Amino acid sequence: MKVLVTGGTNGMGKGVAKVLAGSDNRIHEIIILCRSEERGQAAIKEFEESTKNNNISMVLCDLTKLQDVRNAIKEIRSQHAFLDGIFINAGLGYAAERVETEDGMDPHFQVNYLSQFMLTLNLLDLLEKSDKGGRVIFNVTEGGEIFWDDMQMKENWSYENGIHQAMLAKRMFCDRLHNFYRKIEDPKVSFIGFEIAKTVWTNQINIIPLPMKVMANVMKLFGTFISIEECGRIMSPLFTESQEESLKKSGKFLTWKKNQFIEIEQGNDVLDKEKQDKLWNISLELCNDEKTTQIAERFG
Ligand SMILES: NC(=O)c1ccc[n+]([C@@H]2O[C@H](COP(=O)([O-])OP(=O)(O)OC[C@H]3O[C@@H](n4cnc5c(N)ncnc54)[C@H](OP(=O)(O)O)[C@@H]3O)[C@@H](O)[C@H]2O)c1
Repeated sequence: MKVLVTGGTNGMGKGVAKVLAGSDNRIHEIIILCRSEERGQAAIKEFEESTKNNNISMVLCDLTKLQDVRNAIKEIRSQHAFLDGIFINAGLGYAAERVETEDGMDPHFQVNYLSQFMLTLNLLDLLEKSDKGGRVIFNVTEGGEIFWDDMQMKENWSYENGIHQAMLAKRMFCDRLHNFYRKIEDPKVSFIGFEIAKTVWTNQINIIPLPMKVMANVMKLFGTFISIEECGRIMSPLFTESQEESLKKSGKFLTWKKNQFIEIEQGNDVLDKEKQDKLWNISLELCNDEKTTQIAERFG
């Protein structure tokens, strides 16, 4: 499988990229999308040394910049005729304050959702060309609220609200794409939301304030956390399973409990078609990108 992992330099994305690189006799090709050349090179070196898979590359892209996303789309499209999977994962977690992006947005909204909305739409045709069944796996969590009147959180910012708003937006996007593709006779691509049931011990630990860090370390002693590799092992079947199995999961919001994937009920907000349309239109306006708007026309 040829899989693009956003945020492959740390945390859950790194775990998935590393496990995929080392599995199935190293047949999988991994592309990590990352914002730092140094961290990208370091991750590739680590994957190559630990898995002996040399088919790993990176695309530089800072998801706080839509221009970077445009460049990354061009680069990926010029180097790859198809993709088998994308892990929409990169995310900004804890933040001490709201630092507006160059594009004038709340960084959680832009990094965790909008930039990856644009990236996904522009790579769908490459997934359709996969002969193993294209799939997009969204790293998401339950709950959240869309702050329609203050989506960029200028008035009422909190990093938690920012993350949860982006998570809900991603799940609405996932459901909309699934519903479009299921109307096609031969849908080809599946869209799956996945929430990790146990907290993954990630880079966030280095960023959070001291009291949260102390609490996390205490919780670690009680086995509350799993490693990034464990996370990768849990999630890798979503990327490597057959097209038939993947299509059966399309449109579902899953987690992993008691050694199996189980479905989580979607909230009403996620499935509300009017709200999905509203978010879709706002997202296209914010992307302000002719090509993305053209692609979106296909989805009505
Ligand atoms: N950890 C958990 O247990 C857990 C549970 C549920 C959901 N999640 C969600 O999963 C996602 C990943 O979380 P994590 O815990 O794995 O976080 P993490 O360890 O902080 O890793 C985040 C990844 O995203 C990348 N990233 C951040 N900002 C970026 C930007 N502007 N442009 C490009 N890449 C960027 C990071 O790159 P750098 O290496 O350059 O920082 C890193 O590779 C987040 O959305 C989080 O909310 C996590």
